[in-house]
Amino acid sequence: MTDIATLQNQILSAIETADTPDALESVRIDALGKQGSVSALLKTLGQMSPEERQVQGPVINGLREAVTNGIAAKKATLETAILNQRLATERLDMTLPAPEAPRGTVHPVSQVMDELAEIFADMGFAVAEGPEIEDDWHNFSALNIPETHPARAMHDTFYFPDKDAEGRSMLLRTHTSPVQIRTMTSQEPPIRIIAPGRVYRSDSDATHTPMFHQIEGLVIDKGIHLGHLKWTLETFLRAYFERDDVVLRLRPSYFPFTEPSVEVDVGYSVVKGKRVIGGSEGWMEVLGSGMVHRRVIEACGLDPDVWQGFAFGTGVDRLAMLKYGMDDLRAFFDGDNRWLQHYGFNALDVPTLSGGVGA
Ligand code: PHE
Repeated sequence: MTDIATLQNQILSAIETADTPDALESVRIDALGKQGSVSALLKTLGQMSPEERQVQGPVINGLREAVTNGIAAKKATLETAILNQRLATERLDMTLPAPEAPRGTVHPVSQVMDELAEIFADMGFAVAEGPEIEDDWHNFSALNIPETHPARAMHDTFYFPDKDAEGRSMLLRTHTSPVQIRTMTSQEPPIRIIAPGRVYRSDSDATHTPMFHQIEGLVIDKGIHLGHLKWTLETFLRAYFERDDVVLRLRPSYFPFTEPSVEVDVGYSVVKGKRVIGGSEGWMEVLGSGMVHRRVIEACGLDPDVWQGFAFGTGVDRLAMLKYGMDDLRAFFDGDNRWLQHYGFNALDVPTLSGGVGA
């Protein structure tokens, strides 16, 4: 047997006994690597005479081919074996129950907004929206709060450093009242809308957070008066608190955009040391409201001698606290799953008037 035939037998039997991809790889390096035995033989071809090369060339190349093929075949066999082994061990039983994953709930603020939309839809109110990044004119000026007005300072406004293209200061809306303006300037009266959404004020303690939620109401029509306002608020609060003994107290107040302005208190009774809405043992302020100021109607391009209306605004978070008994507003925005498990709602608890808005 020639030396080459012996070498080939050695390498092929080494391939045969290699039982892991790593062992096979080291056989490959020993034979075909830079310093490998087959590579060394291939290098000798260069020094041979043409006659010698004619004889040795096919022999040495044949060796290289046999080794290359042997390695490729063994590699395929090893990989198939590994795959089969994994398929046999890594089985998934698709019929097993999935592990418990943390599950969210519907946030009380979302739930209350849905309850309010349901209550007001029944009275013929549509839901309107406006941007949270507002300009000065919609948030203040058009609402009869000129630049020098002290009410601007009252709002602890977050302003943006740059003005918009028309030179208006930009800000995070401090209330939902700019949606009154956006609705009156884009829609023909009669108007009946509510506008729930986020508002921002630079304020923070147990009952104030820099971002909170309000809901605005606006009615514009002919011959609207305070009686309509009172009936609407009474109907709304009775439906919301789900009690017929909800008593309202209207107090004269001041907002630049309403005239007259009324603040609305709701009566409560004390049951086992806790305040419960209903009765009139004490009073809690829940709403700001009033008849829309002539100047606001004018600013929106409507004739105040033809169109009148009322508006109201209230804190959604506060309404949620009063109905569902949370006492720290900050927890609303902590995103603590334990709090949400306690106070949150099931996604299927859709509030309906027939089923009870309280879900
Ligand atoms: N925008 C007022 C506030 O944020 C509430 C309000 C709305 C009062 C509409 C009157 C009419 O306090």
